[in-house]
Amino acid sequence: MSAPSSFRGLHGPVATAEPSSSFTPALRSVAAALAGALALAVAGCGGGGSDALTVDLSSSLTLDQQIERALSAKGGAAAWRMPASDALAAIPQDPRNPLTAEKVALGRLLYHDSATGTAGKQSALSSGTYSCASCHHASFGFQAGLRQGIGEGGWGLLQRVARSGFPMADLDVQPVRTPSDMNGAWQQNLLWNGQFGAGGVNLDTRAQWTPGTPKAVNQLGYEGLETQAIAGQAVHRIGAAPAVYRPMFDAAYPDVDVSMRYDAERAGLAIAAYERTLMANRAPWQRWLAGETAAMNDAAKRGALLFLGKANCASCHSGPALNLTPDNVATRNPSFFALGFKDMGNPTGTLAVAEVAGANLGRGGFTGVAADRYKFKTPQLYNLSDSPFFGHGGSMTDLRAVVAYFNAGMPENPEVPAAQLAPAFKPLGLSAAEIDDLTEFLKTGLRDPELTRYQPATLPSGQCAISDDAQVRQETGCPGK
Ligand code: HEC
Ligand code: HEC
Repeated sequence: MSAPSSFRGLHGPVATAEPSSSFTPALRSVAAALAGALALAVAGCGGGGSDALTVDLSSSLTLDQQIERALSAKGGAAAWRMPASDALAAIPQDPRNPLTAEKVALGRLLYHDSATGTAGKQSALSSGTYSCASCHHASFGFQAGLRQGIGEGGWGLLQRVARSGFPMADLDVQPVRTPSDMNGAWQQNLLWNGQFGAGGVNLDTRAQWTPGTPKAVNQLGYEGLETQAIAGQAVHRIGAAPAVYRPMFDAAYPDVDVSMRYDAERAGLAIAAYERTLMANRAPWQRWLAGETAAMNDAAKRGALLFLGKANCASCHSGPALNLTPDNVATRNPSFFALGFKDMGNPTGTLAVAEVAGANLGRGGFTGVAADRYKFKTPQLYNLSDSPFFGHGGSMTDLRAVVAYFNAGMPENPEVPAAQLAPAFKPLGLSAAEIDDLTEFLKTGLRDPELTRYQPATLPSGQCAISDDAQVRQETGCPGK
């Protein structure tokens, strides 16, 4: 049984047969009854079930009602919503690092304070010029705004480049694209290969927590965000917190002995607490889920429907951060898939890291398990358009091209063996208009336009926030110290 495409309804005229509020229990039961009746009818005509379901119902329901119906089969709107950033008890957290307002306040400042950038390889040139936020800033959706983020050795803020005269070998750059540091509360394990976090999918990976490497920080037993924030300070050459922060550490850790109260572990726990509050909870999709149906335009709504249905994106991108498979929303365990995206490489010759030795084996590079090779962690999907570099290698620069890539289901990286590719990575048969709609959902529906609310305007150190050098001061008018 195959329905004529004009009946699919996603782009057709949509009749408003129901009252405008789509959130009434009454409507839900009507939809459920209709769905039940239809399922019977479909069973009778043998096959094509889910397509047929979309067809008939969509012709009589508004876009809002159709999304509501798609969600009701996927845990309902509540399973996709983020809490408010100050509702600390409602934010998923590590029981070993309970969220407090004092930790969040401290972490917010440390994360942005260029005065923490003191453990550089070329500290005579770089001391006090960078912070975590140099590669993860609010204006870029907590990404770097570059294919390859630059910490130590960078110059400037929004047009960050390698500082002239800085030895390239000593730059703090990584051979993968900087992912967003937002919505991390919904993942137990971090990095593209998931190596950070003692629990979740890493329970059986102890043998890989090699002493003397950042992975050894898993021994402390924290979740991924805490582990990364502790290990990441050493990786990114962040020094001890300046003395001016001591009263804030006292307020955050009154019960911790003073011998440990100001150390990198406590700094990391505060940074992780702050990172958990970084949520794109003012994105139109989140507002729509909260009942504000006018928050998204019709194209984004059609895109949301495709995302949840025909395009099958939600089979990997579910939950509030759109980063979990449906069966892992409760555990917050990430999943890893090979989708054939290219590694970083060095196509323009301008990157500090040239070819990484060999292919990036992703999860397999960490676990050593052959079946994990070329598989990367499913990322969150908010504010991607704020930093136009996509995939673990930053190989794509246009969101629509990413959607078209999923639609084509053809790997761009010939090194990835076909047997490793995710079975769901196959041609989707979306029309050009459907690709447009899906892109609109990603671009505007999932973009929180007010992320700079998470950024401090001034710092106790008196330095410029994020990065601090002559170029930054010129760009921002920050007087510095
Ligand atoms: C040189 C730029 C740079 C700096 C500076 C930097 N990061 Fe990152 N960050 C990256 C890159 C690149 C990755 C991805 C690494 C990987 O997956 O192998 C990353 C990954 C992360 C992740 C994991 C996100 C995810 O979804 O898996 C978090 C969280 C994070 N960084 C927080 C921090 C914190 C906290 C600091 C300061 C202590 C920091 N970063 C400093 C570039 C940077
Ligand atoms: C089989 C699981 C799976 C499915 C299905 C899937 N994705 Fe993904 N998605 C991933 C993984 C894993 C990555 C990261 C791959 C990489 O970088 O190597 C990713 C990356 C992305 C990115 C780039 C994000 C970034 O930060 O670079 C976008 C955008 C995206 N997916 C959107 C979609 C859309 C839209 C659909 C539906 C058409 C979809 N995905 C279907 C697993 C999936």
